[in-house]
Order: sequence, then C-alpha cells, then structure tokens
Amino acid sequence: MEIRRAKVEDVPQIVKNHEDAFEGFFLTTLGSRFLQFYYRAFVNSQDGVVYCAVENGHVLGFSAATKQCRGFNTRLIKNNILSFFVLAVKLMFTQPGALIRLAKNLTKKSDEVVDNEDYAELYSIGVSSEAQGKGIGKKLLYATESALKDEGVDKVSLTTDYNNNESAVAFYHSMGYSTLYEFIAYPNRKMYRLIKVL
Ligand SMILES: CC(C)(COP(=O)(O)OP(=O)(O)OC[C@H]1O[C@@H](n2cnc3c(N)ncnc32)[C@H](O)[C@@H]1OP(=O)(O)O)[C@@H](O)C(=O)NCCC(=O)NCCS
Repeated sequence: MEIRRAKVEDVPQIVKNHEDAFEGFFLTTLGSRFLQFYYRAFVNSQDGVVYCAVENGHVLGFSAATKQCRGFNTRLIKNNILSFFVLAVKLMFTQPGALIRLAKNLTKKSDEVVDNEDYAELYSIGVSSEAQGKGIGKKLLYATESALKDEGVDKVSLTTDYNNNESAVAFYHSMGYSTLYEFIAYPNRKMYRLIKVL
C-alpha cells in the first residue's frame, strides 16, 4: 500500500471512501456531486494538503487538510464560485435547510472562546469500512502532519463529534491530540476542537 498526495483523478474514489466512512454525516447528505466539488476544490487549492492510501489502484483512505484554517472555506468557495453557485441553487430547491446549515458551519468555533484559528486544520480523514483498524488512518495522519511541518506549520487542529464517537476520539488521542475546547455547532451538535503541536 502506498500513501501519496492525492490528484484530481483520485477524487471520484475519495468521494466513494467518504460516503462509506461518513455514512449519514451532514456533508454526505449533500450528495456525491457536492462531495466531488468539495474534494476537487481541496486538491486544487494552494492551501490544501490531501493524501490518499492506495492499493492496487484502489483508494482505501484519504485525508484532507489545509495549511491555514482561518478563512479557508471562504477562499475555497471564492476560488470555485461558479460551481458553488450551481450547487447552492440546486440545494436551495432540494434541501434548503442544508444550505443554511452549510453557511452556519463555514467557521466552526465557540462563541465563548477566543480562537483566532491560527493553525492548520484537518478537515476530513476517512478509511473505507473494510480497511479500518489496520493502521491506514495513522499513516495518513502522519503523512499529513509531516507535509504540514515541512511547510512551516507548527499546530494542527480538527473538530470531531463529542457524542457517540469514542473510536475516532481514541484514534486522535493515540496520535497525540488533546482538547482545545468543546463547542456546539449549528443546529445542536456538540463537538470537540482538538489540537496537536507538531
Ligand atoms: C478514524 C479512522 C480515520 C481511523 O483510521 P483507522 O485506519 O481505522 O485507524 P488505525 O488502524 O490507523 O488506528 C490507529 C490508532 O487509533 C486507535 N484506534 C483506532 N480505532 C480505535 C478504536 N475503535 N478504539 C480505540 N482506539 C482506536 C488505536 O490506538 C490505533 O493505534 P494502534 O493500531 O497502535 O492500536 C477510521 O476508523 C475512520 O475512517 N472512521 C470513520 C470516519 C471517522 O470517524 N473519521 C474521523 C472523524 S472526523
């Protein structure tokens, strides 16, 4: 198995991996066209650090991070405004509530905590269900951290669910992440913000 930087050609398989690893999650409910847009924008972004784990041409897992969390989602949309507009119009007719939730989650932080988002952020890491627990997630995260460190980044953060999420939280703890704060994301989703000094 090889861990390497993802290319645009990997995006359809990354989307399949996402749909498998994140079944029922909000982003997944936006549909595969939205996920295609999202991960293609990520791979093409100057700030994006996207890795995939590949075996015999099959993507078994992926990670997507940005070097600079602050303003990343807004930059992603601005740089792909036409495609985003088309998807947003479609969502407006099919899932209007989802569009509101998307806008409210453009930045995920707590109102009670001062957070200038001065860190890199891991947005997504997923391993296909049949390949989990074999060390692939760990390798993907190490590759991401090492690439970020090479770019001069000294801290990486992420958000993950607080409830019913013991295995992912255990995974991040095993990788040296600790809690920066807890917060409630729209509409009422309790989350951890975890952080690691690289
Ligand atoms: C979380 C996820 C990315 C981890 O990838 P993985 O390949 O399954 O994990 P690994 O095999 O690399 O495990 C690495 C370490 O995490 C810990 N870990 C993983 N799953 C665990 C579990 N269920 N319980 C306790 N610890 C666990 C272990 O300490 C393990 O280290 P070890 O192999 O030395 O024991 C993967 O399981 C996944 O895609 N889950 C669904 C999507 C998700 O929840 N993503 C993250 C939330 S944002």
